[in-house]
Amino acid sequence: MRNRLYVLDLGRMQMARSSFFGDLAEDDPGKNDFVEFPISAYLIEGPDGRILYDAGCHPDAMKADGRWSESFQSQFPWSPGPDGEACHLPNRLEQMGLGPDDIKHVVLSHMHSDHAGCVEFFRKSEVIVHRQEYDAALESYKRRDIDCSYTWRDTEQWIKQDMNWRFVENHETELSLTEQVTLLNWGAGHAAGMLGLDLSLHETGHIILASDAIFTLERYDEALDCSHHAQQYPIPSIWAYMGEN
Ligand SMILES: [Fe+2]
Repeated sequence: MRNRLYVLDLGRMQMARSSFFGDLAEDDPGKNDFVEFPISAYLIEGPDGRILYDAGCHPDAMKADGRWSESFQSQFPWSPGPDGEACHLPNRLEQMGLGPDDIKHVVLSHMHSDHAGCVEFFRKSEVIVHRQEYDAALESYKRRDIDCSYTWRDTEQWIKQDMNWRFVENHETELSLTEQVTLLNWGAGHAAGMLGLDLSLHETGHIILASDAIFTLERYDEALDCSHHAQQYPIPSIWAYMGEN
């Protein structure tokens, strides 16, 4: 059995251009315009079991008194794609004849609200996350920061549950997950601890899943000054990592 990669459409999200492109000029006339971008998860089926990369938004994120605070909902509205609630991660898996228990590993690129929202459904999976990212989400929870990108109410659920966490430490730069799938530890940058995946597909070759570490093509082509992140998280960032290579 060869590795097969599925891209799961989990809806659309919007945010101000100034948040999306962090280096916009202060007087940029379009800085408050909303940019729409896709929310995705990735399922890898291979001989050593299924791996899910990212876990989207919680289905109750955008409801009245939902998982996301009112102000967060208005700043970062998430909406379903053309097929409505089918874009919720549990429904996407169901469409494929799968349930959460069929997933061996869940890798969280990071724990922002649009990437870790459904992780609580995966009680039997090994959930892999960067240690610093987990700590950052817990710190945000302790501060009761309800407008943070780490969703307070999501965090509360997975604290209460008996999740099977596996933490990636700073010194673990590359970890072999299966014969064809390698976990890439990019450290701090977009968030406190970013994880990517390098997978090898028979016909396509290597694919790197980077999540929010590379929002746009411009971010891939040009190194971004992330010194403000470096002050917050004093370890190398994804952009610095890419600049050196
Ligand atoms: Fe993010």
